[in-house]
Amino acid sequence: MTATPLLFTPIKLRELSLKNRVIVSPMATYSAIDGHVTDWHVGHIAKLAAGGPGLVFVEQSSVNLQGRITHGCLGIWDDSHVAGLSKLASIIHSLNAKAAIQIAHSGRKGSSQRPWEGGGPLGPADAVARNEGPWELAASSSIPFDNGWPAPHMMTTEDIDRVVEDYRRAFRRAREAGFDVVELHCAHGYLLHSFLSPLANNRNDHYGGSLANRMRLPLRLAAIMREEWPAHLPVFVRISSVDGVDIGWSIEDSVEFAKALKQVGVDVVDCSSGGMKLPRGNSLVSRTPGFQVPFAEKVQREAKIPTVAVGLIRECQHAETVLEESKATLIALGRELLWNPNWPAQAALEMGCDPDWSHWPPQYAWWLKRRVIQQGQ
Ligand SMILES: Cc1cc2nc3c(=O)[nH]c(=O)nc-3n(C[C@H](O)[C@H](O)[C@H](O)COP(=O)(O)O)c2cc1C
Repeated sequence: MTATPLLFTPIKLRELSLKNRVIVSPMATYSAIDGHVTDWHVGHIAKLAAGGPGLVFVEQSSVNLQGRITHGCLGIWDDSHVAGLSKLASIIHSLNAKAAIQIAHSGRKGSSQRPWEGGGPLGPADAVARNEGPWELAASSSIPFDNGWPAPHMMTTEDIDRVVEDYRRAFRRAREAGFDVVELHCAHGYLLHSFLSPLANNRNDHYGGSLANRMRLPLRLAAIMREEWPAHLPVFVRISSVDGVDIGWSIEDSVEFAKALKQVGVDVVDCSSGGMKLPRGNSLVSRTPGFQVPFAEKVQREAKIPTVAVGLIRECQHAETVLEESKATLIALGRELLWNPNWPAQAALEMGCDPDWSHWPPQYAWWLKRRVIQQGQ
């Protein structure tokens, strides 16, 4: 009998057991109403959880109204959001996976149109067309995200202290809703990335300048996340491992950040990249399969903390090799799961490690297994 592939070897993070190492990456769907979960989210999350992953992320959820990207972003800024989120956690559990949620603030990239409505900054025309007007942005500094984007309000220390309490309440609500894992979003040009990166942060107080100062707010929030989350459950942080434009935040900075995150009790660093500027075709990071794996590898090896590899990982054997070569501890998939939500369960069959079809819901497995036996497909 062949050994179980690492991809389908269960793993324990603190006291949380994942049945395999495939993660549904957080994916915003901009389909909330006033931050509330809708029927869309229920169907979407159920479909992904039924496909056999070990851990399912609910998309980035905003700590306050100002921190939404679009009018359709999920929210966790009010107690009334807990019921819908709790429904999502419970659906994920009922499909035999563990539930995670990403906690976020858009910073200078807020007040945007949904991608399919243009993805640019909201303007008066959006207010007329959909009653979705713009709002004032807040970030580490008043440097706009890109050409044509509004300049954000540079947060005062009082603003920062207020947002810290918004995050604290968001972490509490996430736990109340029943999630097993919580992730602090420090990537993709949003608020916390705008503190980390010298391309976005030109402050001259103790939240700007040196690397230690730029890391101060994200680290403060990571410590609060750890404090608020039960000691037996893991907490993740997602980073943009590199800015990918004009140098900016570097992979060496990410290693230092990951070491500091480990010190405050963060269990896993989820290694994404970019988002600091609009893509212009001059990115320093080429988008080939597994393009962010080297970042996960370096952070895991040098900061000695488990990492998530993500980004154009589509083949199960590729995912397995990343794990075998200790380049990451977990594998997250995004668009591939939108294309084929059954990817994890199909990969387990393809890799020959699911003779009982245990990665499928029994309601499907019973029929599909017989179809394969009878018809070879
Ligand atoms: C529709 C969509 C929405 C996304 N929303 C988020 C999000 O809410 N938070 C986040 O950190 N990344 C988000 N991402 C990035 C994904 O989590 C993932 O890192 C990225 O798509 C690369 O993985 P892939 O090549 O497997 O898709 C999103 C990606 C997509 C395609």
